[in-house]
Amino acid sequence: MAKTQYYTATSIDGYIADENNSLDWLIDVDGGVENPFGGFFAGVGAFAMGANTYEWVLANDNVLARPQNWHDLYGDAPCWVFGNRELPVVPDANILMVSGDVERVHEAMVVAAKGRNVWLVGGGDLVGQFVDRGLLDEIILGIAPVLLGRGAPLLPRHLSARELILTGTAQVGRFAYLTYAVGTTPLPERHPSTTARRPAPARR
Ligand SMILES: NC(=O)c1ccc[n+]([C@@H]2O[C@H](COP(=O)([O-])OP(=O)(O)OC[C@H]3O[C@@H](n4cnc5c(N)ncnc54)[C@H](OP(=O)(O)O)[C@@H]3O)[C@@H](O)[C@H]2O)c1
Repeated sequence: MAKTQYYTATSIDGYIADENNSLDWLIDVDGGVENPFGGFFAGVGAFAMGANTYEWVLANDNVLARPQNWHDLYGDAPCWVFGNRELPVVPDANILMVSGDVERVHEAMVVAAKGRNVWLVGGGDLVGQFVDRGLLDEIILGIAPVLLGRGAPLLPRHLSARELILTGTAQVGRFAYLTYAVGTTPLPERHPSTTARRPAPARR
């Protein structure tokens, strides 16, 4: 079944960009020869990002001057950009500018993805809005060996250990990859010895 996934690189201390919205700390970290992103993106049918992330892509990948760069990165997969400001659209790219409720947009993304996965690129609060609506199924983290101290947070929401189930670990280059299913694990059954220690009901 198709999933809604948050796939991102992060520092050890949980930042996806530094305090200047820069990813320079990430670019030079050896990602290994078997970067998993290609395999991941092959399963993606639609994706979404926030306005700041989109602006980073515009600047970093030079996609306005060279729109082919967008197509080389993302093919024809439709991309929803959440923002409240006027942003340039990459020529001939399948980009939709939206704002407001993520649930309504998510429904459209699932339809457009045609059975493939929905990728939430970030930032963290935008992904948090999907979490708030119970729409996130999986988190895939590529953890770089970097501590930033401050910056753009990975996912500023409270999710307990019951809600995050570790389903995969891997080392690729200098990155540690962790995959979590987002859901609710049932509480463990009460151990008989715990039950036995319950106080007996008072006799009449
Ligand atoms: N490490 C990685 O792999 C990775 C991945 C993703 C992003 N990044 C970086 O992390 C940083 C993330 O920036 P960020 O945390 O500021 O997040 P962001 O999500 O990229 O941008 C935040 C903006 O998105 C808009 N937005 C969010 N939710 C909205 C909604 N429901 N409706 C309308 N607009 C909405 C707002 O734009 P307005 O200001 O127009 O209201 C908000 O200010 C960027 O520098 C990006 O490049 C890194």
